[in-house]
Amino acid sequence: CKYQRGVKHLCESGITRVPSKYVLPTQERPISERTMSNGRNISLPIIDFAELQGSNRSKALKNLSKACEEFGFFQVVNHGISIEVIRHMMDVSRRFFELPFEERSKYMTSDMQSPARYGTSFNQNKDGVFCWRDFLKLICPPSSGALSLWPTSPSDLRQAVVSYSTETRLLFTMLIEAILECLGLIETSKNNYSDEEESILKDFGDGSQLMVINCYPACPEPELTLGMPPHSDYGFLTLLLQDEVEGLQIQDRGKWVTVEPIPHSFVVNVGDHLEIFSNGRYKSVLHRVLVNSAKSRISVASLHSISFEQVIRPSPKLIDEHNPRRYMDTDFTSFLNYVSTCEPKRKNFLESRK
Ligand code: SIN
Ligand code: FE2
Repeated sequence: CKYQRGVKHLCESGITRVPSKYVLPTQERPISERTMSNGRNISLPIIDFAELQGSNRSKALKNLSKACEEFGFFQVVNHGISIEVIRHMMDVSRRFFELPFEERSKYMTSDMQSPARYGTSFNQNKDGVFCWRDFLKLICPPSSGALSLWPTSPSDLRQAVVSYSTETRLLFTMLIEAILECLGLIETSKNNYSDEEESILKDFGDGSQLMVINCYPACPEPELTLGMPPHSDYGFLTLLLQDEVEGLQIQDRGKWVTVEPIPHSFVVNVGDHLEIFSNGRYKSVLHRVLVNSAKSRISVASLHSISFEQVIRPSPKLIDEHNPRRYMDTDFTSFLNYVSTCEPKRKNFLESRK
């Protein structure tokens, strides 16, 4: 169908109304929520990364743990990733979506495991109603030879993504180390890690990383559709970089609230794997994306987990008589099966693992 070519292409053809393929049933539209909550914005808990790595670590760890328990979301400032690397990533992302459709469409594939995949909507082979989003997904770091399958245009895309993904991977590793400490699974104040601690950390160091570059073009009737439907993220943590245009909403005590972007900071959220691994202590929270009629929006989500081959299960140390095991084992294959069979009115992946 023509909508498989994506919303950027659709907008370039000069539409003034949202085609019915994108119109959500009334109760799923964002407008009613927006009016009810009166456009409420939320300031997420702020984690000062410099504090976390410095003498104030124990205080920062407490804040981090509280944020993961109560919101499943936080913003990281003073993260140490240079503004140049961040700007270059944002800039190259914007230029990729400005390429002619023929160039972008070279990376369209239904192979979910392709090192580079261009697509539209949320799950374009299954979605009954489409969402107002195009994306480029890149597996990082590409396995040997796979880099040659990443886009060649813009000519500096590969270099920008390699630098950016290397930096975000490092930031992820340090955040997950802090989170493991919050959960009482490792102790960073000692001089040496035990073999057990080393082995947990190694799983994360060798883990998977997926870069999802999202483009939400300006939409003529933003109250009828969504940039992304309510969903939770799959991995351990997602590190999200967004431009200055707001759009991300998270579910907070049953209400949708908008996250205000802080320039050059990261919005970080707990994914399904961390909820499972923490045996439910940390929450993988539903979120969605609104679009608007004035500005197009770009975001870059870096999704981190352990390797695709490994099984995720609640940490045995977090199960006891007061905290019975809450989730089944899961792996990447069960996720792929879920994605390929889920209905538009699907349960979350996480719900299916309880
Ligand atoms: C996402 O939910 O993965 C993307 C969120 C966003 O674009 O703000
Ligand atoms: Fe997400």
